Amino acid sequence: MKTVIGNWKMNKTLPETLSFLEILKKDPVIFNTNAWIAPPFTALYGASKAVLNTPIKIGAQNISIALSGAFTGEISPTMLLDAGAQFVIIGHSERRTLFQETNEVIAKKCELALKAGLQIVLCVGETKDERDASMTKKVIEKQLTEALEKIDKTFSKKVMIAYEPLWAIGTGHFASRNLVEEIHLLCKNRVAAHFGIALEEVPLLYGGSVNSKNCEEFLKSNLIDGLLVGGASLEVSSFIEILKIASNCRLGV
Ligand code: PGA
Repeated sequence: MKTVIGNWKMNKTLPETLSFLEILKKDPVIFNTNAWIAPPFTALYGASKAVLNTPIKIGAQNISIALSGAFTGEISPTMLLDAGAQFVIIGHSERRTLFQETNEVIAKKCELALKAGLQIVLCVGETKDERDASMTKKVIEKQLTEALEKIDKTFSKKVMIAYEPLWAIGTGHFASRNLVEEIHLLCKNRVAAHFGIALEEVPLLYGGSVNSKNCEEFLKSNLIDGLLVGGASLEVSSFIEILKIASNCRLGV
């Protein structure tokens, strides 16, 4: 099954989250796709309670670099688990650019999250300048290598990668399917080699201005296992539409 993750960023209160999930969980499409939602921290507990006994997974958008202690404003892996999170998005470009998260910080977060038992969605992607300078592959190789360096092979099934070119996020300028396939193949090879697994065992998502109109083109590809959706995941009708299209596309490779 294809995976579609809604990254809500800093949007939705708890009541708004619950109304969204009330509609989503009644739609049979959730049985034919992996429907995952990453609400803000404040809605995690309520959201995970709301989707109990459904296949919907709830996850966080960020995690601390430490297990506990004097880190004002941070949320630890144990706290995420406590709130019912099953996965966490790590290294989103907004974290990298607005909050200066380096590959080193991201590596630490990946390690802590996995060791705590969370599944991770590691985001990688190049800026427009890097793309214009033909550095895309180099940048992505480096992001992947440094993030996964210390990750043990036993965690191979808990790692999902999301390729999100920065110039495509929230801009309306989505990447071409050809480019996404090329980068996904590179990522699949890199991650498969690290973990000693087959290419088809490495799930790769695309993200960046995905909506219900353009998602089919990506979802039809055997090299694209799913989507990370920002803006178009905020309206439940649009998220369900994307899930329906995903449910009609088989997962390949
Ligand atoms: P977008 O965001 O779909 O609004 O471009 C994607 C993301 O940032 O994960």
